[in-house]
Amino acid sequence: MTNILAFVSIKGGVGKTTLALETAVSLAKHFDKKVLLVDANFSAPNIALYLDLTKDYVLQDTLNGQTLPQNAIYEAHGIDIIPSSLNYHKNIDPYNLKKVLQKYKSRYDFIILDTSPNYEELKPVIATADKIFLVSSPDHVTLHTTLKAAKIAQEQKTPIQGIVVNRIRSPRHEYNLREIETLSKVPVLAKIQDHKKMAKSLHKKTPLSLLDEANTISKEIKSLSAAIAGSPEQESWLEKLLPLKTTLGKEKINRDLLRQTYYAVPNK
Ligand SMILES: Nc1ncnc2c1ncn2[C@@H]1O[C@H](COP(=O)(O)OP(=O)(O)OP(=O)(O)O)[C@@H](O)[C@H]1O
Ligand SMILES: [Mg+2]
Repeated sequence: MTNILAFVSIKGGVGKTTLALETAVSLAKHFDKKVLLVDANFSAPNIALYLDLTKDYVLQDTLNGQTLPQNAIYEAHGIDIIPSSLNYHKNIDPYNLKKVLQKYKSRYDFIILDTSPNYEELKPVIATADKIFLVSSPDHVTLHTTLKAAKIAQEQKTPIQGIVVNRIRSPRHEYNLREIETLSKVPVLAKIQDHKKMAKSLHKKTPLSLLDEANTISKEIKSLSAAIAGSPEQESWLEKLLPLKTTLGKEKINRDLLRQTYYAVPNK
């Protein structure tokens, strides 16, 4: 099974945690998938804070062999979660992650990894993942840093599924999707605006996909999740009106291609 997906960038604050969480919740809610979300940002984890989880055991305990992974699994918003702890100061071997998750692969449709922007911390996580989703905002600083993560994946021969462009603020001053694809040589799978509703989601400790299904971010996450789950994407009113493929955005065409790979023979 090739179902361990990681959202990566070597840049802090681009939305790795947000997208990992929203995608996990959307796969469960809209596509009835059984999902395990793992906070593999070992030194500066955020998932427990995002969801206000109270935890006895964390991922680091399982990597140390101090407890079985099932003791570190918590349920929230329809998904299972293995959080990490900010206050964990003992040494861990992050390369144990692949072994720890191995026997959980068959129990879940998808295991989603939130990751660290730290180069050294990211390497063992990319080694654990079956597929990578790059996360970048559309500015030159973030894109070039994100491509560093792509390089690790290429060196480790971990397939890169595509890039999610997040926190789009000022298209006139930012790369467009075509430029991003030309520079990265990676297909853009989703384009997500910088939206003030994210602040509400953080404040309410509830993923936006559950808080406001009609929000543009929730809808784009649902479309991305549909492609990951191999399910058809809901058509917008414009697409229903003009059913010609020429009306489709680049990211939608790329999602169609990704959807087709769901049924393809695994390559790892
Ligand atoms: N599309 C968006 N619109 C508005 N705010 C967003 C969006 N995506 C993420 N954010 C906000 O940006 C901040 C950073 O997001 P997030 O924690 O997901 O980034 P990260 O890449 O995981 O950061 P780190 O590398 O520090 O773990 C959070 O406050 C989050 O709510
Ligand atoms: Mg994060």
